[in-house]
Amino acid sequence: MAGRLPHHEITDFVGRLDELSRLTAMLSQSRLVTVVGPGGVGKTRLARVTAAGAMDNYPDGVWIVELSGLRDQALLPNTVASVLGLPEQDSRTALGTLLEYLAEKRLLLILDTCEHMLDPCAELVQAILGDAPGVAFLATSRQPLDTPGEQNFAIQPLPVPDEDAPAELGRGDAVELLALRAGAAVTGFTVNRDNAASVIRLCRRLDGIPLAIELAAVQLRALELDELVQRLDRRFAVLTGGQPGALERHQTLRTAIEWSHELCSVAERRLWARLSVFAGTFSLAAAEAVCAEVEIEQPEVVDALIGLVDKSVVLQQGSRYRMLDTLREFGAERLAASGEEEACRARHIERYLAMARYFGDHFTDDDQMERYRELRQTHANLRAALEYALDDLVGSPVPAVSSGASGMAGAPERVGGAPQGGDGAPARWRSGLDMACSLYGYWQISGLLSEGGYWLTKALERFADDGRERARALVNRGFLRSFQGEMAGAEADLQTGIGLAVAAGDEATTARGYQHLHLVLTFLGRHEEALAITAETRRRLRACGDRPGELMLMPQLGHLYQLAGQIDESVATCEEGLAMLGPDTGEQWLQSYLLVVEGFALFQVPGREADCETVVRKALVGKTKLGDIIGMGYGLDVLGWLSAKTGVPERTAWTLGAADPLWERGGLRFSGTEIMMDFHREAARAAAEALGKERYDALHAAGVDYMKDQLNELARGGSVKLSIPLGFERLR
Ligand SMILES: Nc1ncnc2c1ncn2[C@@H]1O[C@H](COP(=O)(O)OP(=O)(O)O)[C@@H](O)[C@H]1O
Ligand SMILES: [Mg+2]
Repeated sequence: MAGRLPHHEITDFVGRLDELSRLTAMLSQSRLVTVVGPGGVGKTRLARVTAAGAMDNYPDGVWIVELSGLRDQALLPNTVASVLGLPEQDSRTALGTLLEYLAEKRLLLILDTCEHMLDPCAELVQAILGDAPGVAFLATSRQPLDTPGEQNFAIQPLPVPDEDAPAELGRGDAVELLALRAGAAVTGFTVNRDNAASVIRLCRRLDGIPLAIELAAVQLRALELDELVQRLDRRFAVLTGGQPGALERHQTLRTAIEWSHELCSVAERRLWARLSVFAGTFSLAAAEAVCAEVEIEQPEVVDALIGLVDKSVVLQQGSRYRMLDTLREFGAERLAASGEEEACRARHIERYLAMARYFGDHFTDDDQMERYRELRQTHANLRAALEYALDDLVGSPVPAVSSGASGMAGAPERVGGAPQGGDGAPARWRSGLDMACSLYGYWQISGLLSEGGYWLTKALERFADDGRERARALVNRGFLRSFQGEMAGAEADLQTGIGLAVAAGDEATTARGYQHLHLVLTFLGRHEEALAITAETRRRLRACGDRPGELMLMPQLGHLYQLAGQIDESVATCEEGLAMLGPDTGEQWLQSYLLVVEGFALFQVPGREADCETVVRKALVGKTKLGDIIGMGYGLDVLGWLSAKTGVPERTAWTLGAADPLWERGGLRFSGTEIMMDFHREAARAAAEALGKERYDALHAAGVDYMKDQLNELARGGSVKLSIPLGFERLR
């Protein structure tokens, strides 16, 4: 998401030279610049291209935060944090994490599309500007954020030449954009002396608004240029009573959009409306599942989608699709008016719930990573589904999805009193809770722990009465909290959750409750208590046939044994876990944790240094593939301790240095576990003593720099490639 723009965004960018230089100058003087203008005028494009040109001024990068798919303002800081690649691994709030991380950084944040959350954006910007002197903002919005220090940059449509101007291209105006888009739509289309006047007339009609021009240009596939101009003229004449220039810009765009809409087939129009429930990008399969009322309609969806892509209403990005916000809003209005919104939303929820459930039930299967990436790519839709499902609007119950029943009649009501729970809850609340719980592994791998906790808390508000739902949400929230270092809250959630699950006779939730409690006790250093429930935890997980649960228990059990000083049991448990996964497993997450923990244990066994090196290196390969920041931190740290022990203090300095930027992002080193911190401190001390402070610091700094480069590459969409010195010659 960060950094480099796709090449085509720069090559097919028309004109705006003056705007680019003025905006660049403004950015160098002000730390908050907002590009303001109506929808479709080109704010987003201008901001992105300007930022690409100013990249060198921001050593820590340019980051694009797209807000148009975000509805819930509470998640604004999380959204920014996740664009920056900050895992939410400890109990600090997302805003706190952000402020701490940004304090020393020099970077540019683009907040794209702020108009639907002006106040939250203003608040966030002020907090960051106050705490992080090297951070600047470039916002785009239909209205200013209206906050101190803001400089507004009003963007105009592209200029349109006079009708008698000579036909020449390359002037960076509306005609050039039309020529570009029409040329792509209709082979051989060019602007020449014969048609220049009509083209200019068309652009003038459309007020030079880029989006309006793009929508009109593709119509040249079906209409002759003059025909197109005449039809447009007639349309505007009706609207303005014949007065030229009587329309506001947004009305001009609106007219262009409505016109495109009218030229769509019935199926395309219906699809346009229904697609508005998606946030961000979506796949063809998702469009089929959500936009067809019954399966048999799915081929129709494909045809209509192709039609909308042809008309530039839907944009294709690789194998995914998206709609510009202005066009999505238009679709959303149509959907609301059609009375189909509720049913369409229900299918959207159902689609993402199914993905979430599959991921949860098959967490440890071979294709774990593939499915994880699918979910990660469509995060905005997971959010949209959770938000809608857990909203407290109460209408009629969600209609049965396959019946195609239309939505509720009349205005929805807000619930005044206590939230309903139990049997009176709308079906979608149950779906939302199920989804937030089923995504346990997703929240963990992505590091979006606090966002996961947010949705679970919302689900708990909906199910205030004791029962199965509450039990399950508490147990899952306890799990997430334990990784955030909120041990007291985690333990409380788990104890209460287990109690409720037992009372409700829910064996599966009870078993998971035990499993997570076991981890909390381990983290808290209450080894005896954790050991005391180990056998029962395993038995319970096995009795429910919860294989992912049983597998997840293995690395945590290995870690418990290691911390409790039972090193042989620790190694054996890790080996057992690895054997359960099998030698050819495609599962990465648990496998690499098992290897890391085995490395911790082997480090403590005299004579097994070489084995320790082997498993940790293997773990690091997996962690690197996953982009698991914390996991890489674990692995590098242990290699550092190991080389202090084997007499290569140079590598200790370097690897501990390389681990630093990882921990900086990932939160507290080893979640503060004392035994692990003792190993860390001892290794650092011994290496510094052997090398002398100066040399230790220099090598340490080289490790830090190396990892920072890797992380920057990761942020630009590349991948981390670790090459860790075996001995030390290379780095001398
Ligand atoms: N200068 C330009 N050159 C080429 N295409 C442009 C230009 N400005 C805008 N566009 C295109 O017009 C459409 C609307 O622009 P966008 O930046 O999304 O508008 P806004 O953010 O103001 O709603 C997009 O498809 C965009 O790529
Ligand atoms: Mg925009």
